[in-house]
Amino acid sequence: MKSFNPPTRTLMGPGPSDVHPRILNAMSRTTIGHLDPSFVMMMDEVKEMLQYAFKTENELTMPISAPGSAGMEACFVNLVEPGDKVIVCINGVFGSRMKENVTRIGGKAVIVEDKWGAPVDPQKLDQALTDNPDAKIVAFVHAETSTGALSDAKLLCKTAKNHGCLTIVDAVTSLVGSELRVDDWGIDAIYSGSQKCLSAMPGLSPVSFSEKAIHKISNRKTPVTSWFLDLNLVMGYWGKGAKRTYHHTAPVNTLYGLHESLVMLHEEGLENSWNRHQKNHQLLRDGLNDLGINYLVEESSRLPQLNSVYVPKGVDEAEVRSRLLNDYNMEIGAGLGALTGKIWRIGLMGYTSRKENVDLCLTALKKII
Ligand SMILES: Cc1ncc(COP(=O)(O)O)c(C=O)c1O
Repeated sequence: MKSFNPPTRTLMGPGPSDVHPRILNAMSRTTIGHLDPSFVMMMDEVKEMLQYAFKTENELTMPISAPGSAGMEACFVNLVEPGDKVIVCINGVFGSRMKENVTRIGGKAVIVEDKWGAPVDPQKLDQALTDNPDAKIVAFVHAETSTGALSDAKLLCKTAKNHGCLTIVDAVTSLVGSELRVDDWGIDAIYSGSQKCLSAMPGLSPVSFSEKAIHKISNRKTPVTSWFLDLNLVMGYWGKGAKRTYHHTAPVNTLYGLHESLVMLHEEGLENSWNRHQKNHQLLRDGLNDLGINYLVEESSRLPQLNSVYVPKGVDEAEVRSRLLNDYNMEIGAGLGALTGKIWRIGLMGYTSRKENVDLCLTALKKII
């Protein structure tokens, strides 16, 4: 056996995105103890910079030491108790996973369904809330990575609040790539992933919880069924003034990487990052239009960081992906579920969202198709 040396790729799929060399470099620094005072200081900076990324002053803002799916579970296992009614909006793969979380906990999921490729319909949500006055929580995906649709998180949260519900929002793909304002929009629990628009490595899930969410968690009638994700315990490690007693061994070097990616976000500015994602999306869109390639999602709800486009008639979609990989070292994503074989998902997330990548992708597609 020999050391593994991965090929150099341009990651233009649904994630992970390309990791910036500065982040890779940061991750290769000396490992120190996760209770070392220097490390604790760095963790405090990570928390503060995540608050900036989420646009929140929530004290309980931190990275969970596991991928986005663990952030999702952390929100559901802590906020949902057996018997709780949760309105789950489904317009793609990840909404279905939210429902799965609710039912496994013993909650009652009421589904608001929208077509794959469409955003969540706020009117349908309002109707479901009127029909279910005992609902306690509304859950939806801000940026549905399986389809490339962006939902109106601000309006959906307002609708939920009008009916006295807490909100759980999936921001795995939206954080840093699309406008997102946790405090202004009144989001109660939110989770993301390090490997998308933050362009850090996979394996961490930034989360944030409002005071109302913490109140519900602290007043549960039943203990949280997951030991690892029980926020009452995690707070002792990440919380303000916490003694940083041992909870689990933090992934030290991975957190160096997240720290560096957040430093880079500060240097660029959050709004500038949203704008960069939009600008490069428009460049790609114009080039794809010229090639006669059409989008699945209406312009008004398209994600800039995840472009879902129809495979042109007569083109072998898997063959194109394989040629992109073999001839151009470029990864793009396939469709999922009912969209398998019908669409490609072209990611422009984080460090990948650069003009030279747009140009390379368009040049390659032009030659292959
Ligand atoms: C919208 C959304 N939610 C949740 C997840 C799960 O994240 P992870 O794969 O990091 O566990 C993903 C991953 O692609 C996602 O796109």
